[in-house]
Formats: sequence, structure tokens, C-alpha cells
Amino acid sequence: MFFRQFVKHPGMIGSVIPSSPLMVEAILDQVDWARTRLFVEYGPGVGTFTRSILERLHPDATLLAIDLNLDFIAYLEASLPDRRLRVVHGSAADVRRFIAESGHRQADCILSGIPFSTLPDGVGQGICSETHAALRPGGAFLVYQYSAYVRGLMAPLFSFVEERMEWRNIPPCRTFRAVKEEALAQAA
Ligand SMILES: C[S@@+](CC[C@H](N)C(=O)[O-])C[C@H]1O[C@@H](n2cnc3c(N)ncnc32)[C@H](O)[C@@H]1O
Repeated sequence: MFFRQFVKHPGMIGSVIPSSPLMVEAILDQVDWARTRLFVEYGPGVGTFTRSILERLHPDATLLAIDLNLDFIAYLEASLPDRRLRVVHGSAADVRRFIAESGHRQADCILSGIPFSTLPDGVGQGICSETHAALRPGGAFLVYQYSAYVRGLMAPLFSFVEERMEWRNIPPCRTFRAVKEEALAQAA
């Protein structure tokens, strides 16, 4: 199914095969699960990360999964019945509206599988700035990506962007992690 969708929408999917299990583990190991009450996933596709997120997610937490592709949305809704999962059809650019509609204020963690380098001009930049606004102070933005392009979108918004190469993914993939700065203490 994933490959069929890639053939139909190569720019939107950005990859021929889903992420490998070892990369899924390596990325999710970076999450502070005890503090996470709202986890947002952009581009869940066939649920490669979504299943593992649900395995780790607190019983009272919510996973908001946003994808532009209606076939993926229908597949996820049918294959992952879980009261903590809210699957939304739309663009990550509208993340703040989707968060508000789910009854939350801000996200603790946002994970993105969107292929930023193949999106139309300006779309990736808009998604990154909305993401920054949607995160609580101290919240994390995690990205996996074949291209380094997204780093240039993240760097103006986050004071520190950590980049790693995940060689155990097929094909090897870059991962990025940025944390939204905590509000500075008010001067007395
Ligand atoms: C490379 S696939 C990632 C699939 C899966 N998460 C994985 O790790 O194998 C990219 C996904 O991003 C979705 N996507 C692309 N642009 C999007 C956007 N603006 N908002 C939400 N999802 C988007 C595509 O429909 C696709 O499901």
C-alpha cells in the first residue's frame, strides 16, 4: 500500500518504503514519555511509528496523527483502534487548530515524517513555524528525513538543532531533534 501511494504522490510521500524498526526505536527512545500528555505525529502513513508510539504512550495521553493522504487515514482508522489515538485528515500546517479541536493547548512532543525538501515553496517553512508555536516550552520537535534541507527551516526557530545519521534505516536517514526554549524567568 505504501509503495502504491508513493507511485501516486511521490512528492507528498517522499519515500519508497516505510521507516525501519531500529530507527523507530532510536527516535522514540528520545521522548520523555512520563511527561507526555499530547504527542503529535505528522505523516503517519501506514502507522510505522504510530503503533510503537501507542505502545509507549501514557494511558491518559493523546496521540494526534495528521496526514494529507485519505487512503492512509482510512487505513489507520481501520487498523489501529485505540481510544488514545485521534487520526486527522489535513495538513500539519494547521496543527494548532487540530490541537485546539482535540481539547488541548500545546503539544509535548511533535514527530514529523513529512518530506520537507519536496514540498511546494513556503509550505515547509509554514509547518515549522506552526510547530514551534504549537509546542509547550521544553517540548521537542523530532524529524526523520533523507535530506538535510529541513535543518535550514528549523535553525531560525530553535536555538539548538541536533542532527544524527541513522545508518540502521534502509536507506540511511537523518534524524533531527530540537527543543523549544523554556520561557526566560521574569526579571524582578
Ligand atoms: C515518508 S512518508 C512517512 C510514513 C511513515 N511515517 C514512515 O515512517 O514510514 C510521509 C508522509 O507524510 C504525509 N504528508 C506529506 N505532506 C503532509 C502535510 N503537509 N501534512 C501532513 N502529512 C503530510 C504523506 O501523506 C505521508 O504519509
